[in-house]
Amino acid sequence: EKEGFDHFMLKEIYEQPTALRNTLKDKFEGDKVNLPDLNIDSEYLKGVNKIAIVACGTAWHAGLVGKHLFETLLRIPVEIDIASEFRYRNPLVDEKTLVIVVSQSGETADTLAAMRDSQKKGAKVLAVTNNKGSSIARESEFIFHTIAGPEIAVASTKAYTTQLMGFYLITLYFGQLLGKEMPKELYDGLKEIPVLADKVLQNTKDQLDKITAPFDGWDNSFFIGRGMDWYVSQEGSLKLKEISYIHAEAYAAGELKHGTLALIEQDIPVVAVATQQDIYDKTVSNIKEVKARGGYVIAVVQEGDEDITHSVDEVIKIPKVPSLLTPILSVIPLQLLSYKEAVKRGQDVDKPRNLAKSVTVE
Ligand code: F6R
Repeated sequence: EKEGFDHFMLKEIYEQPTALRNTLKDKFEGDKVNLPDLNIDSEYLKGVNKIAIVACGTAWHAGLVGKHLFETLLRIPVEIDIASEFRYRNPLVDEKTLVIVVSQSGETADTLAAMRDSQKKGAKVLAVTNNKGSSIARESEFIFHTIAGPEIAVASTKAYTTQLMGFYLITLYFGQLLGKEMPKELYDGLKEIPVLADKVLQNTKDQLDKITAPFDGWDNSFFIGRGMDWYVSQEGSLKLKEISYIHAEAYAAGELKHGTLALIEQDIPVVAVATQQDIYDKTVSNIKEVKARGGYVIAVVQEGDEDITHSVDEVIKIPKVPSLLTPILSVIPLQLLSYKEAVKRGQDVDKPRNLAKSVTVE
């Protein structure tokens, strides 16, 4: 069933263009997004004064992007929390809160409990899930189904990128329901994403030896970025930790000098994601701080961002898209990097130690 791939994880990384295409399918009506299956009406949505996003692990990382989108484009306040934290802190949730839970399996115990508690407080729940028949799908008021297909490898890849796709579509749809003008470039960009994801896979393939070499001999590393790039850094670092067992610290680039910069030493691998145009210069200056301390920097940038190429050690380029759309593309090289490094180290990529695919106990 691995269809010629050495591992399910690699197969699933390569299935992303198809998974994204399937998740997008039938979601556009002309130039607008239409999600009739969501069953949300504008009357209800207009009464929502806060969104709370709740999930675990990789799904929570997708939620970070979701929060950014909702707040940027809809100007609705969004809280985001890890399910095991949310459920025990008596969160501020009421009938005017829309709770969005994100779960590939739809069976994660903490996420399910967080959702049930929210419903008791009167909130309605929108589930972004890959499993239509799951407990989370059954018990939620609204569902967005990610059509990633079965994900076998413990490390989540195509579920994450399709969850991101879900957040883009939901944000645009909510914007339309609320009568807000949504940027046309996002509609156009989204339709292009499956093709561009394929391009990233092809382009990164030949770079993997070069970008994993700096990790040789290291048990520590960093992922840095700002905004969307920081959220993707968190996902990249989790991937590296869980399958290659290399510690990876994800840090907001601007926060480094408040302590963590002390850990940068000669040749330590630092993956710097710098795809956000409005803050590109800010991230570049953080990268220079890291370089000045001897860090080995592998930068992920958009095509056309040349400023950085001379000040870093390796450059991975993703196609040019609006800054809000980069996470779906910029995460792909990070997935491949982790995969390649784990294989090099002889780890059990599809079944990393101590982890289970579906966490049904808290
Ligand atoms: C990491 C990973 C986990 C899951 C988390 C939530 O690669 O797979 O962090 O994302 O356990 O699982 P779901 O989405 O099934 O609720």
